[in-house]
Amino acid sequence: MRSADLVVAGCRELLTCAGPLPKRGPALRQIGLVENGWVASSKGVVVFAGSEDEFQTQVAAEPDAVTIDARGMVALPGFVDAHTHLPFAGDRAREFGLRVQGWTYQQLAERGLGILTTVKATRAASLDDLVGLSLKRLDRMLLTGTTTVEAKSGYGLSLDDEVKQLEALRDAAALHCVDVVPTFMGAHDIPPEYRDRRDEYVRLLVETIIPEVRKRDPAEFFDVFCEPGAFTLEETRTLAAAAQAAGFKVKIHADEFVSQGGAELAAEVGAVSAEHLIAVSDEGVARLAASDTAAILLPGVSFFLMMDKRAPARRLIDAGAAVALASDFNPGSSHLSAMPFVLQLGVFTLGMTVEEAINACTGNAAYAIRRHGTIGSLEPGKKMDLLLCDVPNHVSLAYEAGRNPVRTVIKNGKVVVEGGRRIGPRS
Ligand code: NIG
Ligand code: FE
Repeated sequence: MRSADLVVAGCRELLTCAGPLPKRGPALRQIGLVENGWVASSKGVVVFAGSEDEFQTQVAAEPDAVTIDARGMVALPGFVDAHTHLPFAGDRAREFGLRVQGWTYQQLAERGLGILTTVKATRAASLDDLVGLSLKRLDRMLLTGTTTVEAKSGYGLSLDDEVKQLEALRDAAALHCVDVVPTFMGAHDIPPEYRDRRDEYVRLLVETIIPEVRKRDPAEFFDVFCEPGAFTLEETRTLAAAAQAAGFKVKIHADEFVSQGGAELAAEVGAVSAEHLIAVSDEGVARLAASDTAAILLPGVSFFLMMDKRAPARRLIDAGAAVALASDFNPGSSHLSAMPFVLQLGVFTLGMTVEEAINACTGNAAYAIRRHGTIGSLEPGKKMDLLLCDVPNHVSLAYEAGRNPVRTVIKNGKVVVEGGRRIGPRS
């Protein structure tokens, strides 16, 4: 018998999302559905997930165990948001107003707005400001079921300001129960003071900023925006090599608007993930499918930028790529962070099935940040990060469009959201 200090009893549908990760092709539809499912954990770690009968014969609840009545609820693993730009200051509401009047995201960027507006505000912000903003955003994300979030710097674009963003993430993470996975993105854009001498900024990154950030060691991943107007393919190759040499694992913002071979390069250099892929080439799809590089799709961007063009989720899945979904939460191209909405966008705008979208927001998202050994599914040995949603069945996670169905969030075996509201301390 396994002993448990927490029991989630009688879920109408339990989606364990169990199975080898990442899930590719037809396996992406396997959500491990158990009707009248039970889950038990001990000290924050899952010890059981399965049927009531198996529970009765395999698990002994401790005398003071907490039991949660989950009748009528759909249970699933906590959402993993594998791509965000969390620690920024300021907002771009005014620029959004211009976009609504017909300006494009690229037109704003060409005029020194866009990312650089946020760079100005983030450079002017103090560490405390950034910690406070990040905490508020984590609070909000938790209410919509995010239990782990990847978070990129990239609005500092100098050694000190990049480190400030990464320190803000570290400090916010220490004060919050949501797990934060930091990514250093000093190659998000060319900073304004280097606009006419971009080669110098690339050299500064390679020779100074990348090794120095690594020495201070606040981030495990390095990310670069490979796109005309940001970094060329060759610059991306140079930066990825420097980052890998310094000990970072590499992620690449690839083929967001224009394909310049970013997906192909990501597969070639063994990147952990290629992210965006709205404009990925056929060759890029094939290379990703044959690689370990995850394809993180961000349907919030096409939605938020009001673009007709979408990432080819169907082609990527059918070719066998390891497809994940994420919010890309940032102030310019995807000012949204609710993973239920991202899941719905995956279904409504990318042509994914509901089951594919569920796995893409959980297990495959965990794979995309290389945390699939500990999160992303409800299986013995993994963290007890679990959501209870008040929908009649898992299809309704998408069918009840625009709604946040998350009522209960369990993080590391503790109830932190109940009845849709935060309970207990932040951490
Ligand atoms: O993922 N593509 C580059 N970076 C972000 C946008 C950042 C911004 O607009 O501030 C993205 O879309
Ligand atoms: Fe992004």
